[in-house]
Amino acid sequence: MERYNYGMVGLGVMGRNLLYNIADHGFSVAGFDLDEGKVKELGDEAAPEMKVQGTGSLENFVSVLETPRKIILMVPAGKPVDSVLENLTPLLSEGDIVIDAGNSYFKDTERRIADLASKNLHFMGMGVSGGESGARRGPSIMPGGDQEAFNLLKPMLESIAAKVDGEACTAYMGKSSAGNYVKMVHNGIEYAIMQLITEAYDLLKKAANLNNDQLYEVFKEWNNGEMNSFLIEITRDIFQQKDDLTEGYLVDRILDKAGAKGTGKWTSEQAMEIGVSIPTIDIAVTSRILSAYKEERVKASELYGKEEISTPENTEAFIKEVGDALYLATLISYAQGLALLVKASEEYDFDIPLKDVVKIWRGGCIIRSVLLEKFYSAYIQDPHLSNILLDQEISEIVKSKIKSLRKTAAFAASHGIANLGMQTALGYFEAYTTESLPVNLLQAQRDYFGAHTYQRNDREGVFHTSWQNLNH
Ligand code: 6PG
Repeated sequence: MERYNYGMVGLGVMGRNLLYNIADHGFSVAGFDLDEGKVKELGDEAAPEMKVQGTGSLENFVSVLETPRKIILMVPAGKPVDSVLENLTPLLSEGDIVIDAGNSYFKDTERRIADLASKNLHFMGMGVSGGESGARRGPSIMPGGDQEAFNLLKPMLESIAAKVDGEACTAYMGKSSAGNYVKMVHNGIEYAIMQLITEAYDLLKKAANLNNDQLYEVFKEWNNGEMNSFLIEITRDIFQQKDDLTEGYLVDRILDKAGAKGTGKWTSEQAMEIGVSIPTIDIAVTSRILSAYKEERVKASELYGKEEISTPENTEAFIKEVGDALYLATLISYAQGLALLVKASEEYDFDIPLKDVVKIWRGGCIIRSVLLEKFYSAYIQDPHLSNILLDQEISEIVKSKIKSLRKTAAFAASHGIANLGMQTALGYFEAYTTESLPVNLLQAQRDYFGAHTYQRNDREGVFHTSWQNLNH
């Protein structure tokens, strides 16, 4: 009987495309899905040279895989993963490997690693980014956990991942659930960058009165230069998409209520839990929440009105300033996400190689951008950099753009244009680069009403004062 090298559970869009990608690289793959339609589609669509087989029987699926079995799960995060494992694990043999390639919560992965280990099975969490076309043509792949299992998968992962300068966009992300953690933070950064791009769009549209054709040209130019990235590129193309239901462009017909699946929220929750400041990611999460109050926003806009926005005198200069502000705020968002990874690596003993994280994010994933090359150089210089803003070369870029970010944020503020992401990136930068913050006063307040004590700046120790209450 022919044995298949890999198994794929879940033949939805991502699973199917990843399966074809693996098969394209000379590996044989068996696919399983409970949905007969998806199983049939797999057979119909596969190229003749691909060694693939679909089945709706889990027993059959498991029996056709070579051992140790290497089974990739591409099912929605949460309960579906547990229910697959419940049915699958009794059919497996010692040493088999199950790889969860969905956006699973890292603590769920830890629990599953322990559970499967008790059955002598390997379980790995592996982030995959790049959407449908990435899965098919080369995603960025973030595996973590069991090193022995990873070594077995490595040749396949390297062959199917995106390539930058001939190097595969996949690497070992660290111990335990590090693969899912890195993917979660990737998505947090994705939220922030998307928020910032919408703010640049808002300013160019409302203040500079650019239409979609002009916006297309601006984003095209940005994408041709230092801002070259996947998100700028797709934004450029969005401005060209005509609506097929009405006249005009589709972007103008899309309701301004954002959806979210949860990875951004997890990133923010995590940052709070382990004490890392990532305000631009937080604001991106909360801005999506705020956008959903559409009816209330309509009422509030009638109640409060808005000032008329005065068009900037020099449109070209304004576009350049907004572009620089976007570039720097984006850089600051990466800095926050990467700082979270640094702390998480210590906190959870993940041992995340930051240099490899930015290296494999250069291609295939949603947040790929040429900026990552600079972060890669920074981590080559100092693999233990706690924040990329502390790198000398990065600091030169920041210094060259900070005025634009300040001016853009100020312009938005003075014209009543919501600009939460840029303003928060700026605020983070200002606080992060301030030697003495006014938090001495805050500590005094805490000690005043709650005897919470404080430290002094002129001697060691912990102090408490009986503050004089002048009202009594
Ligand atoms: C990726 C994406 C992918 C997915 C997000 C979208 O890297 O390929 O991040 O994982 O598109 O989950 O998340 P929201 O639905 O929360 O925006």
